[in-house]
Amino acid sequence: MHLDKYRLDGKVALITGGSRGIGRATALGFAEAGADIIVASRKLPDLENVAEEIRRSGRKALPVAAHLGRMEDINSLVAKVNSEFGRIDILVNNAGTAPAMSPAEDVDERLWDSIMNLNLKGLFFLSGAVARVMKQHGGGKIINVASMDGFKPESQIGVYAISKAGVIMATKVMALEWAQYNIRVNTLAPGNVHTRLGDSRFLAIPEYEGEMIKRTPLRRLADPDEMVGAMIYLASDASSFVTGECLTVDGGISLY
Ligand SMILES: NC(=O)c1ccc[n+]([C@@H]2O[C@H](COP(=O)([O-])OP(=O)(O)OC[C@H]3O[C@@H](n4cnc5c(N)ncnc54)[C@H](OP(=O)(O)O)[C@@H]3O)[C@@H](O)[C@H]2O)c1
Repeated sequence: MHLDKYRLDGKVALITGGSRGIGRATALGFAEAGADIIVASRKLPDLENVAEEIRRSGRKALPVAAHLGRMEDINSLVAKVNSEFGRIDILVNNAGTAPAMSPAEDVDERLWDSIMNLNLKGLFFLSGAVARVMKQHGGGKIINVASMDGFKPESQIGVYAISKAGVIMATKVMALEWAQYNIRVNTLAPGNVHTRLGDSRFLAIPEYEGEMIKRTPLRRLADPDEMVGAMIYLASDASSFVTGECLTVDGGISLY
């Protein structure tokens, strides 16, 4: 009976950044748990591949190309999902970017905007648009993907860290305001995960990977699949009394 609470049968889940990495793993995991899936990111061909994998598992899948740092794309995404599915039960704000590393004093406005517009502004406004849909259907669950970098500064990725600290507070604000509509909002904070975004840091500074492994008590980096159990927990009735919380999945790196 307890395991049934982890099922997502009949739910409609929108996963941003669902074309690869943590978002793709989450999309496939939610489909396995019984949900129909909308995956959104900028590049349609990558999304089509994930959608095809989901359909093979017997669930519905809709790929939508959207730049989620842009208000017009956010609004048209929600309108499209609403018209195709009529509801949204789960939103995973997973799309994120860290396009370049830079000392804080050299950050220019373009870098600041590209990170903040997607990681924080897009997450905030997409959540609001989806919450209005959830409200009409008795509630829902929102999972915001932050990072351990939202807790502790790491040099060269300051703007990313600031954006992720903002995500953790955005979660708390939304959880407080939307609990009355039965919308639960939580953060998932990954540690180092092998993905294009995660590995880009190691390509930029090769010694960084060894340093991260040394600082992680489990002495390794994660595979994207290792985020899925926590995602299903937060998206399902298994976490029915949890809201405004941050679940860290980091191999213990934040223990130091
Ligand atoms: N990997 C790690 O070590 C790590 C650690 C902590 C937190 N995180 C967080 O985990 C989340 C997922 O990252 P990941 O590691 O899985 O990275 P990833 O494999 O590089 O995936 C990033 C996803 O975001 C999408 N995306 C990027 N810019 C976008 C935009 N402007 N609009 C819409 N979609 C966009 C990408 O698709 P398109 O290119 O098609 O747009 C892709 O689907 C991010 O929020 C990241 O900050 C990752």
